Amino acid sequence: MRVLIVGGGGREHALAWKLSKSPEVKKIFCAPGNAGIASLAECVPVGSDEIEKIQSIAREKDIHLTVVGPEAPLAAGITDLFRENGQLIFGPCSEGALLEGSKAWAKKFMIDHGIPTASFETFADPVDAYEYLKKASYPLVVKADGLAAGKGVIIAASFTEASSAVRYIMEEKAFQSAGDTIIIEEYLQGEEASVFAITDGLSYAALPSVQDHKTIFEGDQGPNTGGMGAYSPAPVLTKKLSRQVNEQVFEPLLNGLREEGITYRGVIFAGLMVTPNGLKVLEFNVRFGDPEAQVLIPRLKSDLFPILYEAARGNLASVPYPEWSADAAVCVVMASKGYPGDYEKGIEMKGLDDLPNDETTMVFHAGTSFKDQKTVTSGGRVLGLTAWDPSLKTALQKAYKLADTVTFEGAYFRKDIAHRALRRK
Ligand code: AMP
Ligand code: GLY
Repeated sequence: MRVLIVGGGGREHALAWKLSKSPEVKKIFCAPGNAGIASLAECVPVGSDEIEKIQSIAREKDIHLTVVGPEAPLAAGITDLFRENGQLIFGPCSEGALLEGSKAWAKKFMIDHGIPTASFETFADPVDAYEYLKKASYPLVVKADGLAAGKGVIIAASFTEASSAVRYIMEEKAFQSAGDTIIIEEYLQGEEASVFAITDGLSYAALPSVQDHKTIFEGDQGPNTGGMGAYSPAPVLTKKLSRQVNEQVFEPLLNGLREEGITYRGVIFAGLMVTPNGLKVLEFNVRFGDPEAQVLIPRLKSDLFPILYEAARGNLASVPYPEWSADAAVCVVMASKGYPGDYEKGIEMKGLDDLPNDETTMVFHAGTSFKDQKTVTSGGRVLGLTAWDPSLKTALQKAYKLADTVTFEGAYFRKDIAHRALRRK
């Protein structure tokens, strides 16, 4: 089988790495890929949002299955385009992708289908939003409706903060049209957890618990990033809570999608708040998390290919339930100096050829490329130092030890990945 992966980050490197181990997969292509993916796949220099070009490549290269990593091509309708042309693709259609692409749509969907979430109001006119804020109680949360690279959520402690958030999003257009509509929602207190499932729209396989670290600094301080590290399992997701997630989130979600005639074949990722009043869904994403995928995929004992292939064909029930290793896996993201703000690119990487060749560590490339036959940095998040072991502590030691070998000027990483899981042990 010939597989095309769409994307070029650490998540896509993890997908390529696992798919390359499948006896069924003969060749992998990746658009655009990166310097690490290039050792496993033929990289084609096409951006992940150039969906027409990707569809042509899939046709020219005789691809049997296309697997989409990021959300933007899904929101732009890559799956609809492939389906119209009879090409198999893993990832939801554009309507399904609205679960991530429009917070107002996702909230209405949750209310309509009985999925627990924070109470909220939607506003398309800032004047109405300011009026609402005058009578509201605080803190509350102001969210841009559309995709805003994880920056469109502002927690406001007072009327002043909330009204400047509304101004910033709706009037100053900080996120362009993603802020034409906003939602204002109840502030929830509790512990956050993320849950993932692979689904073909009919049945689903819940993935093990996993948690990322969103902020740039240790102790969960500083601005949000795409994710500075991740660990799995995440003790916050107990067996009881997982059962509740299945009953209160995944099952009503799939029923709701079916009722609305949406054929959802891909990954669904729910961000949850575990509150004293039960679990509430904060948001849905319609893809694997990054760097969550980098710790989930190494724990998968089963072949990944048939799972993605049959899910894309609407036949997930024909595949044996995925088996997972009991190991703990951790990923420490090594980022460019300055990220998530401005950072330099093109810095030469050191030590990539000296990495240990063992079965329990892997350095996933997130933002790397080739320049003058050298591997250089090309993104904010550069590498995912990943390790797994029966002991979480040992997995962490192994992951951090990789940073003694591989580095680049200005490399920054958090030293406290998985601190919550360690504290609970
Ligand atoms: P979202 O993109 O909606 O998941 O929001 C990003 C982050 O903002 C979440 O991971 C939470 O830390 C925080 N957040 C979002 N909604 C709420 C809420 N209703 N109450 C408290 N924190 C929230
Ligand atoms: N790590 C969070 C995300 O992929 O959105």
